[in-house]
Amino acid sequence: MCGIVGYVGTKDAYPLIIKGLQLLEYRGYDSAGIATYNGKLRVFKKKGKVKDLINLVKESSVPEGTIGIGHTRWATHGLPNDINAHPHLSGDGKLVLIHNGIIENYNVLKEALKKEGHEFISETDTEVLVHLIEETQKRTGLPIEEAVRVALTKVVGAYAIIVMDTDEPDKLVAARKGSPLVLGIGEDEFFIASDPTPIIEHTQKVVFLNDEEIAVVQRSGDFQIKDIDNRIQTPFIQELDMKIAELGKGDFDYYMQKEIYEQPKTIEDCMRGRVNAHEGWVMLSGIKEFSERISKAKRFIVAACGTSWHAGLIGEYLIEELARIPVEVEYASELRYRNPIINSDDVVIALSQSGETADTLAALGLAKEKGALIYGVVNAVGSSIARMTDAGSYIHAGPEIGVASTKAFTGQVTLLTIMAMCLGYERGTIPRSYYLQLIEELANIPSKVARVLENSKKIEYIAGEIKEATNALYLGRGYNFPVALEGALKLKEISYIHAEGYPAAEMKHGPIALIDENMPVIVIATNKSAYEKIVSNIQEVKARKGVVIAVVTEGDKIISDIADYTIEIPDTDEPLTPLLSVIPLQLLSYYIAVMRGCNVDQPRNLAKSVTVE
Ligand code: AGP
Ligand code: GLU
Repeated sequence: MCGIVGYVGTKDAYPLIIKGLQLLEYRGYDSAGIATYNGKLRVFKKKGKVKDLINLVKESSVPEGTIGIGHTRWATHGLPNDINAHPHLSGDGKLVLIHNGIIENYNVLKEALKKEGHEFISETDTEVLVHLIEETQKRTGLPIEEAVRVALTKVVGAYAIIVMDTDEPDKLVAARKGSPLVLGIGEDEFFIASDPTPIIEHTQKVVFLNDEEIAVVQRSGDFQIKDIDNRIQTPFIQELDMKIAELGKGDFDYYMQKEIYEQPKTIEDCMRGRVNAHEGWVMLSGIKEFSERISKAKRFIVAACGTSWHAGLIGEYLIEELARIPVEVEYASELRYRNPIINSDDVVIALSQSGETADTLAALGLAKEKGALIYGVVNAVGSSIARMTDAGSYIHAGPEIGVASTKAFTGQVTLLTIMAMCLGYERGTIPRSYYLQLIEELANIPSKVARVLENSKKIEYIAGEIKEATNALYLGRGYNFPVALEGALKLKEISYIHAEGYPAAEMKHGPIALIDENMPVIVIATNKSAYEKIVSNIQEVKARKGVVIAVVTEGDKIISDIADYTIEIPDTDEPLTPLLSVIPLQLLSYYIAVMRGCNVDQPRNLAKSVTVE
């Protein structure tokens, strides 16, 4: 995780880097640090957030210079404290380095370097890198970019690094393997960052570095990219189309709140050009090129983590019901380590908001080796997963900054719905009348989501009633089972209340033992099929004095009479229900977290983009 930023050009580096770090803070917030050079190297680093770093700098003079690097950390090796904060320096104090990733052989390297007389002051794996580059430079006399390249040939693990050499103060060297890195090319200036957000205010011209590439950018305006085997690479310069306004909180208190409220628009954006209710069609251009292979696939495998994995489960229900293709949904972290059976008849769908999740990337690498077609469903444009897939579709949710994923989830579910409908139509497994009905209903979803959002006062009230709970249970059946899992994850992540999601009928096989008058049970009870069954499940909870919060379809009288609290959502076709039923659960966890005084956007121990295994 960690966010890294570098700048070389003609402007003051300090404010540019600080602003960049604030935009990347979602990636980690254990500590922050900065180094600039203006004839003299100035390094500041501090445990905590970027604002703590700014306060530290205020105690002395603001660092000057038109070159610098900055880091916001999500600790993997060593406590989150001032010493372990990046940047790290070489023994002679001439090289400064920031890193995102994990150096797996750091112990071996460290022992060897110690024998050469290197002393280490932090507990991080990162510090080994800067000493290794220093040692390489000392032995070979190579310029910094070459020393970095040679040093990296000895490194096992994942890294995105930026290195500044005070002996060559007009250049920055950047390299990546497994962790993301983007170069921004401006007029007489270069930006380097973990993602494009710190760059787009200055330039939309970017190069996404590939694994094992090393870039050197110079104040003169020159830049060059080589691979680790010293071959010069031709950079693929892209023009992005990102708007700086998308990166602000607007009038909202938190990014998560803003992102929840954006969903009518983001779902609409995801459907643009893909769903046409007037003409009665849905289409996905990503499928077209490989349509033969995709629609004839023997099996789909979804690889994902966290919230994206929950969206994948809904995808399984959708694709199996509408297109009659068997689907397996796998935790990417498990898939890669268990020698799975994957072959060239399979389509592997990678679901990821960030497109940088290390576990998902690694699972895709494996699936690729085994010859499967890789289809990416990704939000972050140009991200590593988006670039390694054979085909794919962006969900177009715009930047998601809140660590708890909300609009990306509904974007993924929307996209998977469209995919299931396209395949079902093509394979003849969905009757035309039902196909047309679903298209019409899908087009109505954004306005129905807006209606759920109008109900927020009631949800806020319920949040107030259950905010002191220490545990919560989420139950749902069918399409609403993955929604229960997602609701529980949201509550855990941001309010630190222990919560579990279960298929409602599974409750009696164990979790029912937990139910008493202190246990809120959130039941998603909008199903038309198995309605009576879920009513019975609610009765079972009530019989044990559990507090039932039921999400029901507008006008439901039966459950409203039994449950302690009900939240109504508009009626819709069952396969589309998750797009509506998840919204109150997002709001519920949001309000509970705010009431408990938690940092909603930056929950403890988490980071937005999990680029380490
Ligand atoms: C969601 O609220 C979580 N923060 C997390 O589970 C996330 O969904 C997971 O890390 C996967 O991320 P990705 O979609 O960017 O791959
Ligand atoms: N491994 C480095 C550290 O612990 C970087 C962590 C990361 O990128 O998440 O400081």
